[in-house]
Amino acid sequence: MGHIVVNSISKEYQNRRKQVRPGDSSGNSYSDTLPVLDNINLEFGDGEMVCILGPSGCGKSTLLRIIAGFESATSGYVTIDKQRVEQPSSDNIFVFQSNGLLPWMTVWENIELGTRNLPDLQSRVEKVAEQIEIVELEGFEHHYPYQLSGGMQRRAELARALAINPNVMIMDEPFSGLDFLTHMKMREEVVNMHSFTGKTTLVVTHDIDDALIMGDRIIVLDGRPARVQLNHELDFPRPRDFQKLPELNKLRQQIFLMQGVSYAV
Ligand SMILES: Nc1ncnc2c1ncn2[C@@H]1O[C@H](COP(=O)(O)OP(=O)(O)OP(=O)(O)O)[C@@H](O)[C@H]1O
Ligand SMILES: [Mg+2]
Repeated sequence: MGHIVVNSISKEYQNRRKQVRPGDSSGNSYSDTLPVLDNINLEFGDGEMVCILGPSGCGKSTLLRIIAGFESATSGYVTIDKQRVEQPSSDNIFVFQSNGLLPWMTVWENIELGTRNLPDLQSRVEKVAEQIEIVELEGFEHHYPYQLSGGMQRRAELARALAINPNVMIMDEPFSGLDFLTHMKMREEVVNMHSFTGKTTLVVTHDIDDALIMGDRIIVLDGRPARVQLNHELDFPRPRDFQKLPELNKLRQQIFLMQGVSYAV
């Protein structure tokens, strides 16, 4: 379960800047449409963890929203387990959003939201307790989000997503805004979660190292409209250490170069 096919997806938005502003002397002419994605063809295998990179504004979130069914493509279509995606479905998919906890609910109540489909109270309680243990939030069940650190909030969001037990996990920049160490720990958490649950996981990130350390495969989008510039399998053992894996380090340098950075530290 969780086999995704992205079939010739193109996306154009109506251009909100089609009117030239008064005093705009740039000479730009604005067209009616803003082409964002151009004929994207991708396939994500059942249980694969794929990291998607690309410059800001290139259309990564747009692609995720189309895969999740929150947005329709201008042309092309997406299937998950051979079913065409027409609308969002919590049965198949869950988008893990940053700052997505409901502030008026405790950690327990937030995670419980993900268990609404379970038939009885006993199984809901067991499920919530299990998720809290997985993300190591025991003792914080009755705290409100504002009483948690940023990293703990992300872990609670992860627990809620896991409680829904979707076939596909979609994460749009799950580590943004976290300090360095919390980022590293959360990254480890997501890798562990993936190896534990075996769910197809798509992660959009700006961080090349995140993608190379986490992914079974890395995809780089670029251009306007965006196309797939790189689709590369990462057949390296985990945990991954750039020092010990010269091939991975070489790929890292290449990707930095593709993104316009000639010297990567
Ligand atoms: N609802 C919308 N209406 C019009 N234009 C949009 C809409 N959503 C996104 N865009 C435009 O589409 C382009 C791609 O946006 P998108 O959010 O997918 O980029 P992104 O790669 O996720 O960027 P970032 O890395 O900064 O999050 C941008 O130019 C954006 O302005
Ligand atoms: Mg985005």
